[in-house]
Amino acid sequence: MDSSNKQFSHTIEKMLDSIHHNGYDVIENAIPEHLIKQLYQNCLTAPDKFNSAGIGRQQSLKQDARIRTDKTFWLDSKNQEQTNYLALMDKIRLTINRYFYLGLFDYESHFAKYEIGDFYKKHLDAFKGRSNRVFTTVCYLNTPSKGGELLIYSDSSNHIIEKVIPKAGTLVVFESERFPHEVMPADDVRYSIAGWFRKNNSVSGTIDPSS
Ligand code: OGA
Ligand code: MN
Repeated sequence: MDSSNKQFSHTIEKMLDSIHHNGYDVIENAIPEHLIKQLYQNCLTAPDKFNSAGIGRQQSLKQDARIRTDKTFWLDSKNQEQTNYLALMDKIRLTINRYFYLGLFDYESHFAKYEIGDFYKKHLDAFKGRSNRVFTTVCYLNTPSKGGELLIYSDSSNHIIEKVIPKAGTLVVFESERFPHEVMPADDVRYSIAGWFRKNNSVSGTIDPSS
């Protein structure tokens, strides 16, 4: 095992402990700097790929600029850097499965771009019994000079338990059904990758597809 591999395993161990106790974790410098730089470049070199983000899934998918104004595009396993990122997330998935005796079977993720003024109002990423998203991940690809903070609210009351200042390399992980959260208006362009570990839910006898 090389040293960055070893370091990442250590990061995951600590993260699982935090998730076990608090349901979430915020880890600075979780992802190797060179990979963050490459993924950031992927965003800068493909500006046309970003599309207005949707709310909800499948038929109910609609764009609603009252709720969110960011633009997104899905990661592609044909791209080497994106594959490297997905491999790290898969390592987390397998470790979570072992640690919590879960059967998370897949990970879906997209790049997100918030330009100045873009926001994502308070929301949940999953609703009990209606979604198969179990854990949310957010990884920041740049360090905006101002704005775009992620506010995480407690599950039982309406107070803010965490204010995350986006910083390149920081990884946030939380239980998708449990924590309402919001992205404050960006004051500087903000790039991230949001992703979801999913379990295999059966919806009227068919497996819920990933998009
Ligand atoms: C999301 C989300 C948070 C962030 O994409 O669902 O809540 O900090 N993102 O970008
Ligand atoms: Mn969200």
